[in-house]
Amino acid sequence: MIIAIDGPAGSGKSTIARMVAKGLGFTYVNSGSIYRAMTLRAIRLGVDPRDEAAVISCSRSAAIDYRDGRLCLDGDDVEEELRSAPVDALVAQLSAIPPLRDIVNGIVRRAAGATDAVVEGRDMTTVVFPEADAKFYLDASAGARASRRFEQGASESSLEAITRNIEMRDSIDKSKSVGALKIAPDAVYLDSSHLTIQQVYDKVYGKILHLREHHGH
Ligand code: DC
Repeated sequence: MIIAIDGPAGSGKSTIARMVAKGLGFTYVNSGSIYRAMTLRAIRLGVDPRDEAAVISCSRSAAIDYRDGRLCLDGDDVEEELRSAPVDALVAQLSAIPPLRDIVNGIVRRAAGATDAVVEGRDMTTVVFPEADAKFYLDASAGARASRRFEQGASESSLEAITRNIEMRDSIDKSKSVGALKIAPDAVYLDSSHLTIQQVYDKVYGKILHLREHHGH
């Protein structure tokens, strides 16, 4: 069974996807982390981000695997580095390169394997797993997502600056020529602006159990 979850940055989808995978004993695949690993590799090797051919060949030769659920790039556990500021600054630009997306999509499909997986990102429900057994689009207003990030206290930016940054990321995500963030017509749409993580989880989990009963998974 494949469960696909898409949504904008900060909607809580990674938290929910990880909880659902754990609850069901499924493999968890975060496609955004793979885009981040490709970006980290380009930075490490000093590839010019404007040179698309070089970025693509750098991604093609990347070795990505998982150890205890943690992403390893060329043999190193890079989970922490994936969320560093240099990667943050470049990943949106590189993830807009269509051949790089093909490479990442292949890795996501292999990581999900032939069995049971929860896959999350921006185009899992639309491009990578259009045949997924359960699809969710997890949304939240830019204001709600900015407040959550602000309250985590990890950023030194003002609430206004965080909100602007989120709006900018949304517009990049939604306007990509390939793999843009879209709501699949058959996805369950959930707006988490006024819900707790537990409430969102209960809704998603309940829906999956319902689908399993009706589809015999
Ligand atoms: O979810 P995230 O913030 O870790 O994603 C990192 C970047 O990768 C972000 O700019 C959106 C992009 N991305 C994408 O284009 N397609 C996906 N399936 C997942 C992420």
